[in-house]
Amino acid sequence: MKRPITSPLIPLFATLLLFVNCKTRPAAPTGLVTEKAMVVSAREEASKIGVEIMKKGGNAFDAMVATEMALVVAYPFAGNLGGGGFMVYRKADGDVGALDYREKAPLAAHRDMYLDSLGNVIPEMSTKGATAVGVPGTVAGIIEVHKKFGSLPLEEIFAPVIALAENGIVVTENQARRFKGVRDKILEVNGDSTTFPIDSKVNDVVKYPALARTMGQIAQKGRDGFYKGEVAKKLADFIQAKGGFITEEDLARYEAKWRQPIIFNYKDLRIISMSPPSSGGVTMNQIFKMIEPYDIGSFGHNSEKAIQLFTEAARRAYADRNYYLGDPDFTDIPLDILLGQEYITQRMADFSFEAATRSSDVREGSIAMAESMETTHYSIVDAEGNAVSVTTTLNGAYGSKLYCDELGFFLNNEMDDFSAKAGVPNMFGLIGAEANSIAPEKRMLSSMTPTIVEKGGQLWMVVGTPGGSTIITAVAQTILNGYEFNMSMQEAVNAPRFHHQWLPDVVIFEPEGFSQELKNNLKAKGYNINEERTPIIGKVDAIRVMADGRLEGGADKRGDDTAVGF
Ligand code: DON
Repeated sequence: MKRPITSPLIPLFATLLLFVNCKTRPAAPTGLVTEKAMVVSAREEASKIGVEIMKKGGNAFDAMVATEMALVVAYPFAGNLGGGGFMVYRKADGDVGALDYREKAPLAAHRDMYLDSLGNVIPEMSTKGATAVGVPGTVAGIIEVHKKFGSLPLEEIFAPVIALAENGIVVTENQARRFKGVRDKILEVNGDSTTFPIDSKVNDVVKYPALARTMGQIAQKGRDGFYKGEVAKKLADFIQAKGGFITEEDLARYEAKWRQPIIFNYKDLRIISMSPPSSGGVTMNQIFKMIEPYDIGSFGHNSEKAIQLFTEAARRAYADRNYYLGDPDFTDIPLDILLGQEYITQRMADFSFEAATRSSDVREGSIAMAESMETTHYSIVDAEGNAVSVTTTLNGAYGSKLYCDELGFFLNNEMDDFSAKAGVPNMFGLIGAEANSIAPEKRMLSSMTPTIVEKGGQLWMVVGTPGGSTIITAVAQTILNGYEFNMSMQEAVNAPRFHHQWLPDVVIFEPEGFSQELKNNLKAKGYNINEERTPIIGKVDAIRVMADGRLEGGADKRGDDTAVGF
């Protein structure tokens, strides 16, 4: 017979249990909630088209192709035919994988191609105009996804996108502001005969007939509609006429590559993220493993201790990123060591809550840094439970600013993600080393971090963001917000973010949400804080699968980002 429980410890147990329950009771949703399927992307038009494809019976992979293409039309700032990206997926049966459709250096590229005769980096040569363009990977990426996992015919998937390009999209306030901001540079690179609708205003409807025609070729012919034949010839001729290096051979040789994603556990989460040539998964793995021994959840969200711990982990992980990471097909990356527990523990051995570590003691250097939001991320879950996480980019806003009128799209300036010269920062202030030096057909190191998270073995979160070097920390903080600080998906996306990347040795805070007192305390401990400029960090688009199976969207209102589903 059971003994009646009369211990005086019962009230204590009950209180403890309540406390534990509070922490683990899932946060009530505050974002869009749907029953079955969802797309969260930078533009409502793109999210809607992705969802429309799933309503027609397409899966998350069909929806990926549609959303990626719709972003070319609706969000030319970053959506692209002339860029590249990464996809991480998790199928409903738990199978996971990753696709690398990152741009690569043309055959004519070489290590010192952006240096003058004195060995100095030539300003703007890797950021603006035709010389900055890497061989585009996006079309190879979507076609590869469609070939492996697609269920609807390509032409059916493209139909609503082509209609969007033909019928036009409505210019939003953000878009009109961006057009204005970049107008002079686009004119400088393309001349004033450019057909890109640079002077359009809020609520104007802009149409992209040339882009619709190019997309028609891809819909009909698959990758050959872009990498071979008429489109490839026009594209290579155009880039070369503008002084660039890409040839028809470069285009014909481009291949997207399936990669083994980076997979690691953090407490009871299993995190699946992008592997090299992105630094995202490796760097996030290091950050999470460095903070895992601490109960960061008990420190309080964005508290002094939580910020210190995260910053010190990021400082050490970014130092490794910049030195060790590059295209795995060209560089030996000591992944086993970098991600091994012994190494991680030793990296944090000198961490203390008393004072900041100095980046110069981790590795020296000092530089200026610019942040921007020109990449784009979207997250998809379909009715079967397949999940797709994609980050895609032209690198800078409208890439190299080079716009091919005849084909209707911008070309990337991804060559700037290489290290043009060891120790000299790129446009994100990231310093590179030999591992990321330029070589023909090599892929440039990225920070893009499309990620999928399992909790208790089940799909829990699909997440990613733009933001250059700030991508990795923004994704990590969004996961921590949901898991350690028990926020809903939308709250986790909304929450104010901060960033540190080893060099420059500065902690960057968003404009809202961090008190002067907190900043003063951190300064007293030796942290350098950005005082004048407080940029927004990231535009996170994410989906959470709730315990009852419903989906909650987190669409970042820092942009026009929108969740749509059913
Ligand atoms: O691959 C990378 O890391 C960069 N090209 C991403 C650029 C980016 O996120 C720009 N927008 N913020």
